[in-house]
Amino acid sequence: MSIAIAPAGPDAAALLAALHQAAFPADPWSEPAMARLLAMPGAFALIATLDGEPAGFVLARIAADEAEIVTLGVAPAHTRRGIGRHLLAAIAAEAAKRGAARLFLEVAEANQAARRLYAAGGFREAGRRRRYYPDGDDAVVLARPLTPPSSG
Ligand SMILES: CC(C)(COP(=O)(O)OP(=O)(O)OC[C@H]1O[C@@H](n2cnc3c(N)ncnc32)[C@H](O)[C@@H]1OP(=O)(O)O)[C@@H](O)C(=O)NCCC(=O)NCCS
Repeated sequence: MSIAIAPAGPDAAALLAALHQAAFPADPWSEPAMARLLAMPGAFALIATLDGEPAGFVLARIAADEAEIVTLGVAPAHTRRGIGRHLLAAIAAEAAKRGAARLFLEVAEANQAARRLYAAGGFREAGRRRRYYPDGDDAVVLARPLTPPSSG
């Protein structure tokens, strides 16, 4: 089993939309919506493959010295194999390389799988948006500091 992470270019909108639909079947994002997100200033995305097959993705945005994970997901057929952990580490490293000092994200209070993944990745609660999601769930705002890449 081999996990590889690669940058998603501007032509990756269709693949990102397909992976998003697999990970979030109740809230699919269209290819044009993904293309618009990718085109936002400071946006960048990574795609994870498992033995060459696209399996997960993360899309982030950086503004000044703060980065935000806009969306991250792993296709259900490929979960629990460390892909989420690899994506999180890779996006944190890329955000640090691009000059971010902190990385933020929002996660639904009830999303235990994601909350464990983020806690293990060094994220701590930085705030809360009450009843943020359509089902009435709170959004927990998480943040972690980023270490600048060593110059040597
Ligand atoms: C959350 C999600 C990204 C995890 O991806 P993944 O590739 O399965 O995660 P990993 O295999 O790297 O797991 C890393 C750790 O996260 C935690 N975790 C992941 N899935 C879990 C689950 N279903 N239940 C409990 N803990 C879980 C565990 O601590 C796990 O470590 P372990 O396997 O050594 O116990 C994936 O389940 C997903 O895409 N879910 C739907 C979309 C979503 O909720 N995205 C995040 C929105 S903020």
